Amino acid sequence: MSFGPMPLANAFLSEADIASEEFYPLEPAICERCGTFQLTTQPAPSRLFRSGYPFRTGSSTRMVAHFTALAAELRRRCAEERPLVVEIGANDGTLLAALTAAGCCAIGVEPVNECAAAIRARGLEVVEGFFNAATAGAIAAAHGCADVIVAANVICHIPDVHDLAAGICRLLEDAGLFVFEDPYLGDMLEVGSYDQIYDEHVFVWSATSVAAAFQRHGLELIDVQPLRTHGGSLRYVLARTGRYPAAPSVEEVLAHERARGLSRRDTYERFRSACEASRDALSTLLHRLHDQGRRVEGYAATSKSTTVLNYGRIGPTLIQRIADSTPAKQGKLTPGMHIPIVSPEHFMADPPDFAVLFAWNHAAEIFEKARAFPEGGGRWIRFVPDVRILD
Ligand code: TMP
Repeated sequence: MSFGPMPLANAFLSEADIASEEFYPLEPAICERCGTFQLTTQPAPSRLFRSGYPFRTGSSTRMVAHFTALAAELRRRCAEERPLVVEIGANDGTLLAALTAAGCCAIGVEPVNECAAAIRARGLEVVEGFFNAATAGAIAAAHGCADVIVAANVICHIPDVHDLAAGICRLLEDAGLFVFEDPYLGDMLEVGSYDQIYDEHVFVWSATSVAAAFQRHGLELIDVQPLRTHGGSLRYVLARTGRYPAAPSVEEVLAHERARGLSRRDTYERFRSACEASRDALSTLLHRLHDQGRRVEGYAATSKSTTVLNYGRIGPTLIQRIADSTPAKQGKLTPGMHIPIVSPEHFMADPPDFAVLFAWNHAAEIFEKARAFPEGGGRWIRFVPDVRILD
């Protein structure tokens, strides 16, 4: 399946950078044997997660609350007085801070230098670099083994799963837990959220594929929990094989995935048709509004929007500006389609007739913050789970 040539999802750029913009083929595939859904080509992680990487966890107050709850749950799962928790991909330290407040000894691993600096500035501990078997060994040597290794929206970014798993096995206490959450393949198929497919998401995991990938390394899936974050995620809990009994949720989800054909080719043939229909419906709507002389803008220059805009060839003629609260994105252009990004304050000062909600996964929070937009007569456009103008 091909989404065509794509720029890097988070490579927001200035006019001067346009000539050197890089593209790669965005082509996911499914393995019918182990059920793994992954990109067939991925730009090297060192090109994606480097200085200038703009995403910050703390930009969503609901995600901050979500991570506070996750920290409390991890603390509850540990009997130790002050468990050692290592977070892979700690971003701005949101979860590390919550873990520390919950009474854990928390250490982050983070490759983006500005993020690592932000973590240190909060007085938290961070190892700067990518998590792999070597980093894991160094942390174990310096601090001992971890009671919990946790990652949120990060494991799907790591192409070398086997090196990752080797690192987990090296660092994790015998009785320890490896807990991670990522956007869920089942939800992506259910709601047609093809915008989950972009360079950083080298995998879109399911219980089937997680169980298959990690069992080779002596790690067993012992619990799964559905989450509403990122438009539908799954939290996976793994431990050394045979150490704990698996919760009934694991077999329930695996059976559900078998019944829904998550490893079957025809499922993805239907998904491809659904993606094409969604792309065409959005494009038709935007062209119609443009022909009627209506002004359309976007809200939230998400990484996911890079797929939607470039797959649909939607540029500044159809969407004149996109509002985003991230200072590092404001004043820049979106990757590939070069739509200018402004602050939400600019957007509200001169609101358009319609706004496409690219951060549909943060709809509740954004509808609350931007209440004045519909109150002033503006209309929201959504494209997941269907393309429509909201009342
Ligand atoms: P995400 O979908 O990858 O979490 O990215 C969310 C993007 O949406 C990020 O660029 C920040 C932006 N955003 C806003 O502009 N306003 C908001 O209220 C929220 C929650 C996010």
